[in-house]
Amino acid sequence: MSLAIKAKNLTKKFGSFTAVDSVSFEIEEGKVVGFIGANGAGKSTTIKMLCGLTTPTSGEVTVAGFDVARQPERVRENIGYMSQKFSLYSDLTVKENIEFYGGVYGLGNTELRDRFSWVIEVADLRGKEGLLTRDLPLGWRQRLALGCAVLHHPRIVFLDEPTSGVDPVVRDKFWQLIGQLSEEGATIIVTTHHLEEAEFCESILMMHLGKIVVNGSPEGIRREYSNLPLFEIETSEPLNVFNIVEREEWISDAAIYGDNVHVYAETTEPMAKLEDVMKKNGVAKYRIVKASPTLEDIFVNRTRGTGTASHV
Ligand SMILES: Nc1ncnc2c1ncn2[C@@H]1O[C@H](COP(=O)(O)OP(=O)(O)O)[C@@H](O)[C@H]1O
Ligand SMILES: [Mg+2]
Repeated sequence: MSLAIKAKNLTKKFGSFTAVDSVSFEIEEGKVVGFIGANGAGKSTTIKMLCGLTTPTSGEVTVAGFDVARQPERVRENIGYMSQKFSLYSDLTVKENIEFYGGVYGLGNTELRDRFSWVIEVADLRGKEGLLTRDLPLGWRQRLALGCAVLHHPRIVFLDEPTSGVDPVVRDKFWQLIGQLSEEGATIIVTTHHLEEAEFCESILMMHLGKIVVNGSPEGIRREYSNLPLFEIETSEPLNVFNIVEREEWISDAAIYGDNVHVYAETTEPMAKLEDVMKKNGVAKYRIVKASPTLEDIFVNRTRGTGTASHV
């Protein structure tokens, strides 16, 4: 399997602040890869370094087989980039934006005509070609922006927070569109702060404070962290149980999910200790089971405190 991206010790500092802290990773060609993390984690800065839009303070990066520092033009020919900030011209119509980007990417007339229809089709903009871009709902604008970013059939596509601010229906449509691009053979790198979107990715890199804290496929990551001491307490009085477990200092995390209370119990004999606490506090009916950690649980675990919490 050949590599679309290879980054080694990639670092970006702004003055004395380190936004991206010596990250190393490889991305296989043809994959849908998610950079996931809270605002400020360093996702956009990483993407910009990969695209050659910002110069790393140190480290190396190869994109589509080309060194980003030495062959930025070759890199640019092979990538499409949709920025987190609105990348279209809001005073231009839909048609004008597509034509503008067609010009930027040097598309010939025939190719532009083909791609024009394609964008209108995938972005669901038939009949709206003459509308000003600023008058489109955000979801449509985002799909148009994606269409414009891939007019030239790039091998690698970078989408920075494409689903930020759109409702779940639009978000799902957007992911369908990503799936379609992927089927056509492109490597797709998407950033998002919505953890639930991790499930749509074949491979995920979770970022926290400029570092990659988790890297792998969703199944692989869940397998790797299956031993996290997570327990589920089924109860008819979740709020009461939550308040009880919150008082135990060996329970570092507790959360209510419907009728269940999830706890993170990093201690010896966690099951017995939990039973004990339930009994001691007079909880009448409950059932404790070992829980399989969700990606969210794993992310929380890996970012707790300094972000270096150990597992297993
Ligand atoms: N041009 C800049 N100058 C100074 N700090 C910056 C600049 N760009 C980003 N940062 C800081 O770097 C950190 C990472 O930002 P960013 O890469 O945008 O994170 P994300 O995309 O994950 O939200 C943030 O703390 C942000 O404030
Ligand atoms: Mg960002």
